[in-house]
Amino acid sequence: MKTIIINASPRKNWNTAQLLQEAKKGAEAAGAETEYIDLYDLNFTGCRSCLACKRKGAEKSKCYWKDDLSPLIDRIFQADAVIIGSPIYMGEPTAHFRALFERLVFSTLSYDDYRVYFEGKVNVGIIYTMNASKEYYDGSMRPVLQNTEASLGRALRGQLLVYPSFNTLQVSDYSKYCMGSFDEAEKKARRETQFPLDMQACYELGKELSR
Ligand SMILES: Cc1cc2nc3c(=O)[nH]c(=O)nc-3n(C[C@H](O)[C@H](O)[C@H](O)COP(=O)(O)O)c2cc1C
Repeated sequence: MKTIIINASPRKNWNTAQLLQEAKKGAEAAGAETEYIDLYDLNFTGCRSCLACKRKGAEKSKCYWKDDLSPLIDRIFQADAVIIGSPIYMGEPTAHFRALFERLVFSTLSYDDYRVYFEGKVNVGIIYTMNASKEYYDGSMRPVLQNTEASLGRALRGQLLVYPSFNTLQVSDYSKYCMGSFDEAEKKARRETQFPLDMQACYELGKELSR
């Protein structure tokens, strides 16, 4: 059992990374071998439309562009589970998440009949962190995010679990920033009470997907 954990936040030790580290522990508790990647350490772009993956005779479910992401995409298709964590930026996962998503999903999409070439099964976990409240996420963000989640689930064909963490602590000292729309006391209280529950839920997510 191999579980790949991918941090699509530029910050290596903040909310998203901390939840992913718990997911990693959960995966290991289930007996999985794990690999943890900080996506922002890799040198890559989104799909370059080289269309090598659509060439007649090309190996399927393979991204041919030569950069740091293609070998990771190969490893994802060979894994049993992948868990990707991303902050929400402007209502969507980060640009790095999107670049990985484009290249992974497009490389296994048939332009003959829109089926998925990949015949294996990789379980998928998605962890989001955001300033937004659960109410805002449910009402405005979730319908948009669900399209991406469904495409990823369809491409990798395994179990799909999504965990959103709301109203995260964005900086340790709000008094140093122009961030007047946030209630620091509420953010800090939530960090004390809710974030440990988010950590536990992400541990369980990692464990469940790596069984
Ligand atoms: C460029 C940028 C855009 C953001 N846009 C949103 C947003 O649209 N909605 C939201 O709820 N939070 C937004 N946030 C807040 C982050 O999603 C939130 O602080 C997240 O927990 C950060 O993750 P990290 O601690 O792993 O870096 C944004 C943060 C940044 C830096």
